[in-house]
Amino acid sequence: MTTTDLNSIRPTPILLDCDPGHDDAIALVMAHRSKAIDLLGVTVTCGNAEPEKTVSNTLRILEFIGAQDVPVAAGCVRPLARPLVLGTADGPSGLEGSPYLPQATKTVEPMHAVDFIAKTLREQTEPLRIVATGPLCNLGLFVLKYPELLSKIKDITWMGGVFWRKSEYITPTEFNAFCDPEALKIVLDSGVPITMVGLDVTMKVLVEEPQYREFEKIDTELGRVVLDWLKFYEKLHRNSMGVGGALHDPLALALIIDPTLVKTRPAHIGVDLTGTYTFGATVADYWNERGLPPNAQVCEEVDSDRFFDLLYSLLRD
Ligand code: BDR
Ligand code: CA
Repeated sequence: MTTTDLNSIRPTPILLDCDPGHDDAIALVMAHRSKAIDLLGVTVTCGNAEPEKTVSNTLRILEFIGAQDVPVAAGCVRPLARPLVLGTADGPSGLEGSPYLPQATKTVEPMHAVDFIAKTLREQTEPLRIVATGPLCNLGLFVLKYPELLSKIKDITWMGGVFWRKSEYITPTEFNAFCDPEALKIVLDSGVPITMVGLDVTMKVLVEEPQYREFEKIDTELGRVVLDWLKFYEKLHRNSMGVGGALHDPLALALIIDPTLVKTRPAHIGVDLTGTYTFGATVADYWNERGLPPNAQVCEEVDSDRFFDLLYSLLRD
């Protein structure tokens, strides 16, 4: 095997910024189990639950999957300019349905998440990829505090936003954008390349009967825990939208492993900050009517079957 071949199979180092959250939890599991990914650290934000719960959930998930060596840094305890609005899909703990997760033996890094991101970027010789699966509080604050390090971020794959469909809120907003729209604006304006994995595609990766049957065949402790997470997680989706659980965050993570799962389109995207009912709504200038350069690749189509095949294989192998 040549040197080039060896390089081509080097796992991609990433940082994951998240707010577990059942779907964040599955993204964490995928990041740890995929040989294509080197998970350098996890930074945690508020969002699906209060910050102490999302941090505790992260530590417990990592303990359960044997990833105690992955550093975890706690971040923002509220959005940059607004009071915290909690997500609704994951129950009071942010991870209901998993009472048997072990208590964590590890603790968080002795620094704020944004300082941990800065430290990690400085240690890298190559620009680093970041996957963000929660409100962008941490990354927004990072942009403000460390503008000199932005060139060390290769790109941000962000789960959030929506363009074409009405979301779970009455306004056309998606939770991660709605929770901290100011942070989102700061990140969008930062010049860092962004892939936006919005509800337009994530609402097409739904766990329905055929998927449940496949998850049930995964006869491991991890497979059973993920199935229990999914059963809790589906409740809100089923009751309010009449569909199974949407695997938003796992899809964003999966794009590091296989970017061909989606089709993207470049666009300048922005976020509304002032609308009485529409703050947090993302807008895309698809026809470049304002003459602004694209700041994101927007996911428009997804191959849901191939996504699920990837997820099953990561849980099984
Ligand atoms: C996003 O909001 C959270 O509830 C999920 O974890 C996901 O990141 C979907 O709108
Ligand atoms: Ca999330």
